[in-house]
Amino acid sequence: MTQISAIRGPFLTFHADPFTTDPMDALHHEPDGLILIENGRITAAGPWDSLRDTIPTETPVDHYPDMLISAGMIDTHVHYPQLPVIASYGEQLLEWLEHYVFPAEARYADLTYARSVARQFLNELLRVGTTTAAVYCTVHPQSVDAFFEESERLNTCMIAGKVLMDRNAPENLRDTAQSGYDQSADLIARWHNRGRQLYAVTPRFAPTSTPEQLDLAGALLATKPDLFMQTHLLENRSEIAWVRELFPNRNSYLDVYDKAGLLRPRAILAHAVHAEEADFQRCHDTGCSIAHCPGSNQFLGSGSFPLFKALKSERRVPVGIGSDIGAGPSLSLLQVLSDAYKVAQGLQTNLHPAQGLWLATAGGSQSLGLQDRIGSIQPGLYADLCVFDPAATPLGRIRAQTAETLADCLFALTMLGDDRSIAATYVAGQRRHERKTT
Ligand code: GUN
Ligand code: ZN
Repeated sequence: MTQISAIRGPFLTFHADPFTTDPMDALHHEPDGLILIENGRITAAGPWDSLRDTIPTETPVDHYPDMLISAGMIDTHVHYPQLPVIASYGEQLLEWLEHYVFPAEARYADLTYARSVARQFLNELLRVGTTTAAVYCTVHPQSVDAFFEESERLNTCMIAGKVLMDRNAPENLRDTAQSGYDQSADLIARWHNRGRQLYAVTPRFAPTSTPEQLDLAGALLATKPDLFMQTHLLENRSEIAWVRELFPNRNSYLDVYDKAGLLRPRAILAHAVHAEEADFQRCHDTGCSIAHCPGSNQFLGSGSFPLFKALKSERRVPVGIGSDIGAGPSLSLLQVLSDAYKVAQGLQTNLHPAQGLWLATAGGSQSLGLQDRIGSIQPGLYADLCVFDPAATPLGRIRAQTAETLADCLFALTMLGDDRSIAATYVAGQRRHERKTT
C-alpha cells in the first residue's frame, strides 16, 4: 500500500556548492514550504501555495511554522562502542586509546551489551538530528550485527564495519589477517545493501594492522566497487612517528594505505590534521574523502585540520564532518560545527554558516557518494529530515530576536545549538524523534 504524508514549514536545502558559489546563493530557503513524501521518498518539495492543491485528501500534514526544516545531518566519522567512555579525562590519542577505549571495546564480545549500546547510540543520533553516519563497531563481528539489526529496525541509512586489528592491541581485541578478512566478507554478504545498510571495510589505523592485514583489506574492497572503507590518518604527532617506524618502506602515512589498495571513492579518512600538499593531491587523485572532526581534534589536542587547504579548488578533496565520539565530546553536529568555526578562525579563515550546514548535509552525502539518496530536500531522495528550532534554548531565544537575516539566524543556531535545537527527526518519512520539552 502506498504511504503518503507531508511536512509543512520553512525549509532549507542546497542547490549549489557554497564553497564555489556565494554561500547564501547556494542555499535555497522556502519560507513556507511543503515536502510531500511517498513510501519514504520525497516526491515534491516547494512552496506551500503552489503545492497545497496536489496533496491527496486525508494526507497527514505535520506543520512546523516557526522552525527550519533541513535534510537530516550526516556524521562521517563516529565510534558507537565508545559512547560509554565519552568525555574521559587527560590523555592524548595513544594513551587515551590504551586507558579508556580498548577496555571499553572489549565488552562488545557480549552481544546483549552490544545491542543495548547500539540502541542507545542510534537513539541519541536521532535526538541530535543525525540520520546517517559512518560508524566503527569493534573487532567482534557480533558488534556489527547488533548495530545493523537496530539500524534496520529504524530504517536508517547507516555505514558500518567490523574493526580490523591484528597487532598492537590487547589480545582480546585482536583478529588475524585471515580471520579479519573472513569475518568481514561474511558481514558484507549479510549486510551490505540490505535495505538501507551499507558496509565499510574498517582497518582501525596503520599501527594496529600488519601489512598483510591491510593488503587483505584492499583485496576485499576489490571484490565490490560500492563498498566503503574507513580508517584514521595523520591525527597525532606520536602516532605519525610510530607509523614511520612500523612502515619504514613506505613514503608516507597515506602511502601505507595507498600501497594496500585502500584509496578510492567511498574511502573515508578521518582527521588528516597533519596532511600536507602531497597528501591532499593524492586524496584528490584517488577520490577518497576526509572526515573533519574538530571537536575530537581539540579534545585530544591533536591539532587543527586545515579545511580550506583541503578544499583548494585545483585539487579539491571531498570533506564531510564527524563527531568522532568518544574522542569528540558531543554527538551533536551543531556543536561540531561550532568547533569547526572556531578552528577555522584560529587558522585565519571564516567558515560561513551555510558552508557549515552544507558540510553536515549535502557535502557530507557527496563525500560518501550518496548524493542520489540523501543530503538534500529534493524529489527522489529519501525523506531523512531534521527540524531545527533556533529559539529552543534560553540563549537561542534571546539571540533569535536580534537575528535580522537568515545567515545570522543560521550562524547563531550553529554556534548555540545542541540536542535541544532539534524539534523532530524523520527517517524515510517516519518521525523517529520528537522533542518532548525545551
Ligand atoms: N585512531 C585509532 N583509533 C582511534 C579511535 O578510536 N579514535 C580516534 N580519535 N583516533 C583513533
Ligand atoms: Zn575515530
